[in-house]
Amino acid sequence: MMSRKSYRDSHFLLLLAALAIIGVINGEYLIGVGSYDMTGPAAEVNMMGYASMEQNSAGVHFRLRARTFIVADQNDQRARFAFVNLDAGMASQLVTVKVLERLRSRYGTLYTKENLAISGIHTHAGPGGYLQYLLYHVTSLGFVQQSFDALVNAIEQSVGQAHKNLKPGSVFINTGDVENAGINRSPSAYLLNPAEERARYPANVDKEMTLLKFVDSASGKSIGAFSWYATHGTSMSRDNKLISGDNKGAAARFFEDWFTSTEANSSRSVPTPSNISKLIKKVRSIKATGGKPCDNSTSRSFKARKSDGSQFVGAFCQSNVGDISPNVLGAFCTDSGKPCDFNHSSCHGDVTLCKGRGPGYPDDTLSTKIIGERQFNKAVDLFMSATKELTGKVDYRHVYQNFSEIEVELSGKTKVRTCPAALGPGFAAGTTDGPGMFGFQQGDTEINELWKKVRDLLKEPSQFQVECQKPKAVLLSSGEMFEPYAWTPEILPIQILRLGKLIILSVPGELTTMAGRRLREAVKETLVSNGGGEFDDETHVVIAGLTNTYSQYVATFEEYEQQRYEAASTLYGPHTLSAYIQEFNHLALAMAKGRGVLQPADLSPPDLSSKVLRLLADPFPDSLPGGKKFGDIKQDVSEPKGGSFKKGNRPSATFWSANARNDLLTEGTFAAVEMLQGQRWIPVYDDDDFCLYFKWKLDNSSLYTSLATIEWEVPEEASSGVYRLRHFGSSKKAQHSPIEYFTGASSAFTVS
Ligand SMILES: *[C@@H]1O[C@H](CO)[C@@H](O)[C@H](O)[C@H]1NC(C)=O
Ligand SMILES: *[C@@H]1O[C@H](CO)[C@@H](O)[C@H](O)[C@H]1NC(C)=O
Ligand SMILES: *[C@@H]1O[C@H](CO)[C@@H](O)[C@H](O)[C@H]1NC(C)=O
Ligand SMILES: *[C@@H]1O[C@H](CO)[C@@H](O)[C@H](O)[C@H]1NC(C)=O
Ligand SMILES: *[C@@H]1O[C@H](CO)[C@@H](O)[C@H](O)[C@H]1NC(C)=O
Ligand SMILES: *[C@@H]1O[C@H](CO)[C@@H](O)[C@H](O)[C@H]1NC(C)=O
Repeated sequence: MMSRKSYRDSHFLLLLAALAIIGVINGEYLIGVGSYDMTGPAAEVNMMGYASMEQNSAGVHFRLRARTFIVADQNDQRARFAFVNLDAGMASQLVTVKVLERLRSRYGTLYTKENLAISGIHTHAGPGGYLQYLLYHVTSLGFVQQSFDALVNAIEQSVGQAHKNLKPGSVFINTGDVENAGINRSPSAYLLNPAEERARYPANVDKEMTLLKFVDSASGKSIGAFSWYATHGTSMSRDNKLISGDNKGAAARFFEDWFTSTEANSSRSVPTPSNISKLIKKVRSIKATGGKPCDNSTSRSFKARKSDGSQFVGAFCQSNVGDISPNVLGAFCTDSGKPCDFNHSSCHGDVTLCKGRGPGYPDDTLSTKIIGERQFNKAVDLFMSATKELTGKVDYRHVYQNFSEIEVELSGKTKVRTCPAALGPGFAAGTTDGPGMFGFQQGDTEINELWKKVRDLLKEPSQFQVECQKPKAVLLSSGEMFEPYAWTPEILPIQILRLGKLIILSVPGELTTMAGRRLREAVKETLVSNGGGEFDDETHVVIAGLTNTYSQYVATFEEYEQQRYEAASTLYGPHTLSAYIQEFNHLALAMAKGRGVLQPADLSPPDLSSKVLRLLADPFPDSLPGGKKFGDIKQDVSEPKGGSFKKGNRPSATFWSANARNDLLTEGTFAAVEMLQGQRWIPVYDDDDFCLYFKWKLDNSSLYTSLATIEWEVPEEASSGVYRLRHFGSSKKAQHSPIEYFTGASSAFTVS
């Protein structure tokens, strides 16, 4: 037995040891963050997500960004990884391939397929055409180079900033539940999971948000925060045509604005309104068109940046989102107003009538704001109360597998296998977030003779495929379709990133709630039981959904039986999830044991960039009606009753403009609200602000003449004063003539 004294001594020694460890741990990592504008073409490009031919971009609600964090071990700088969160529908294999090429030429072998993760937030309001497999660019008329380039450039810039800003720092982790930001949109499928399994969870959704807070050791200040939480980016419906990051993009915008405003309260000087009625008279005499041309100093991201080029980065990442809808009021029939059929999400057999409602129903933008705020508010809580520091190894494992032919050993030694990719009729039925085609219902396991004939014209599925995919009826045997090039991927990357006791699983698809739980549990179990004490109950596993490549959905074996949308879109058959669990377990075992992973030879994804169809026409050269110049006012701000706008009003002006595809004005803006301060017009809001809308369209009389409407919803916090609306754009006289930049301004108006 220990004497009292030695007991005390041993405690003292422990304390010393603990302090010593803290000393070493402090600033154990190098951390860096970056962010860059990735907003693609804001005109005439089909949006990625709903696969609706009518949903082409026509303006910007707020901009899309690529946000990156990098962590490296201070003592072994090759032990590092970079995680990029894209305000995009999903990652794309070809984007990943091209980014890796760019990073190789900049940094050699520092960032490779092994330790770079590129993840999408799943907004359905971003320009599409950047994926290489045919199925994912049917509605965008093939591949769209401009969409693709915007992503690749932004990722390269964003990683570059994070790399350049690497400095000693700490990472804190915190978790908590987000309330009422997601419901299960296929609850009837969830109910097919075993009752004992369901009984272990309080809900049919995962509410947990995991947040990382990055703190610079030298200044003690935070440089960024990344969080993961599962809810679809479908607050904006398929009727929307404005580029938007949907609820996660909005949450990121709110979080970065909140941090920047709390940090630099003083520098956001609010001008004292002078005698407004006096000013107005003077202002009326200012000509409507004029001002300095567009440059990047007009945009907010420029203002948010510190003198060393760094900026606070707040990112909201996607997780096991498969069956989670942000339309939390539920799904209702548009004709009767009654809830849709439970098992099929249809209204007397018609799926096109069944639509989910967000909390701001029928206002999509309000729903986006509310669901964004629910995530933002929780993230602020977690950020402010994060005290648990991550310590330990930075590590990663990666492998490519052919998901068309994975043999899986189930418990009891039964061997099963995955199948070549295929979609069932439930895929064509769509979801309550975006209803599909009349004639299909979620849960269908049969296809009528007419559709069978249509299908067989494209490709009759092999008998093997028909058997393998059961109970899915094969509507499209995409894994057997290679003309003119592959319709869906077969080679998928899977990846594990480790930061101490945080484990990030890079999944190239959308796992349902229960599928995600099974995967996380299996990986944790493998790590804990093989890691020799390095992993324990505190080991925290998060799923980063839609990462590195896109291969649609992953439902559990039981959910697959019902063949709702998620199951009908589970490409590789009933055992897809088991294959994922098996392959992730291999990586986890290798990580736990400190071993490498054997990459099956010759397995790497194809680069189809030379084969993809490109059918979207270039913009026509711009023209104007006689006597007009680009940027001239077509319809000026109209003065409201009482002479002054109030909060919530929407002053707007329409300008003669040009095709918004001519120049994306990256890190710039198509629109600004300027405020008169003294003799100068100072930009106070731009097209990245939630309150300002840039709406683009062709004049109805011509294919060549564009109109731009700038619309400002006067926000709560706007101060009284004199304002005007500005528009920035670029025009082209002929297909190959140089781009010319223009700008215009509305008349001045007052807000009080
Ligand atoms: C910054 O200003 C806002 C609004 O005036 C205020 O609510 C907030 O408490 C201020 N934050 C700090 C850190 O001063
Ligand atoms: C503003 O100017 C008007 C006209 O010159 C004057 O009548 C009014 O008293 C002034 N108001 C204030 C608050 O200074
Ligand atoms: C802004 O524009 C200037 C001049 O064109 C350029 O040198 C600078 O790199 C740009 N800054 C950003 C953040 O894009
Ligand atoms: C849904 O389908 C299941 C299985 O066929 C059936 O037992 C249940 O009654 C159905 N529920 C509703 C509300 O139709
Ligand atoms: C993947 O597996 C399928 C099915 O066995 C096979 O036909 C195909 O050639 C494989 N692909 C590659 C790139 O090895
Ligand atoms: C174009 O729109 C205007 C205003 O909405 C309308 O008055 C005019 O008739 C339309 N012209 C054509 C050619 O459709």
